[in-house]
Amino acid sequence: MNAVPKQPIEVDVDEWAVMAPGASAGRWDLYHRLRHESPRLKHRDRIFLATYEDCRYVLSSAVQFVNGIDRNGASTQAIRAALDPARRSRFDAVIDHQQRWMTSRNGASHAELRGLANRVFTPRAIADMQDRIQREVEMRLQELAQRESVDIVAEFAYQLPMTIISEMLDIPMSLQDGIHRAWLLMTGIIGADASRIPDVIDDAYAGMMDLEIRMREVIELRRRSETTDLFARLLRAIEDPGCTATESDIVAIVTQMVIAGHQTTQDTIGSALYELLSNREQWQALVADSTLIPNAVEEVLRFRSPAQMIERTAASRVCLDDFEISAGERVVCLLASANRDEKLFANSEVFDIRRENARQHLGFSRGIHFCLGAALSRMEAISVLSTLTRLYPNTKLLERDVRWTPNRFLLGVEALKVALSA
Ligand code: HEM
Repeated sequence: MNAVPKQPIEVDVDEWAVMAPGASAGRWDLYHRLRHESPRLKHRDRIFLATYEDCRYVLSSAVQFVNGIDRNGASTQAIRAALDPARRSRFDAVIDHQQRWMTSRNGASHAELRGLANRVFTPRAIADMQDRIQREVEMRLQELAQRESVDIVAEFAYQLPMTIISEMLDIPMSLQDGIHRAWLLMTGIIGADASRIPDVIDDAYAGMMDLEIRMREVIELRRRSETTDLFARLLRAIEDPGCTATESDIVAIVTQMVIAGHQTTQDTIGSALYELLSNREQWQALVADSTLIPNAVEEVLRFRSPAQMIERTAASRVCLDDFEISAGERVVCLLASANRDEKLFANSEVFDIRRENARQHLGFSRGIHFCLGAALSRMEAISVLSTLTRLYPNTKLLERDVRWTPNRFLLGVEALKVALSA
């Protein structure tokens, strides 16, 4: 494991959360410096881990490093103490909501939810979507190809994963945009610096309330009709003897599938097109040989890491070599930095669709929380690239200057102007 430098790196890690005006360069420089100068950094109330080895270790050690927010931890208590009573109760409600998600659970509680999700979200259910995904991709691209200029993120990359996951769960189209908006409001609090919580808590609370209302509407609709979608099957599963999960748990699973299932896949498709269309030789290689496409998708996930980082809490005192982590400390695994760790990935700052070990990236995490939707998002991204390179091989990027999402947890291009061309 890595030695810890005596002098901590002099950088304000919190600064890169803002990254106005959405440029991404700062974040890669920072990760590079962290890996080389301070791969294990104690900064304010968090420990940042920047190497592949450390991140993989923490993510694979679900007993030592647990998910979810430590309610009694010093930082949570400090945030609560700084809020007025109304905002404090909103903060508690948002935390309660997030704690119900699968990613926030541990041990038996996580295993039960994951088991339920695995029962319906099977490799077979995903494989059954292949033709549907392909039809949707072709239909949408054909419509967009009529135009001279298209924002492929807003007009395509957002809708595709949202449509597919919503169809699998039978979420009505009328509710899909509302769920997306609610999620955008909630991202304000996810990963926010403690000092910013008072500014973002009202919006996050409004987003959460909206999300809950919309999910209850979906359940009501389902009660009025017999359906066989995954959502209905999950609701039926909780009636099995021995199952302790409740309707609220199912709402949490479904909410997370919709939210996790659309934003990150949108970001993967946007980043893939940005990288490939700006690296023309690599685009042409895919046009000439479609068998390269699956690895190109892995390289995008490695190089751009739609989920930039994941947090855990140390359940007990842990030592990484002589670096001590106390019980209750928050640990940030910088996946995006791990995915560019030169110890594993040669020329790690170079985008290379032929990279042999691209698939070893940590973009979908490791261990018990490994992404439930990895196979689905891979299938969607592969379908998009194979259709575009086959039907529109002369597609061009119209603007090279792009804005990257100003969110420290997620990364994607906000808009990407292209001209689709056969
Ligand atoms: C490229 C697209 C995607 C990326 C980069 C991504 C990334 C991730 C990551 C990093 C985690 C682990 C979080 C942790 O360890 O705390 C995760 C978990 C999860 N993802 Fe994805 N995801 C993607 C697509 C999807 C899709 C399409 C779905 C739809 C079902 C989905 C559903 C989930 C769920 C339910 C979990 C929680 C699993 C658990 O806690 O056991 N994701 N995802």
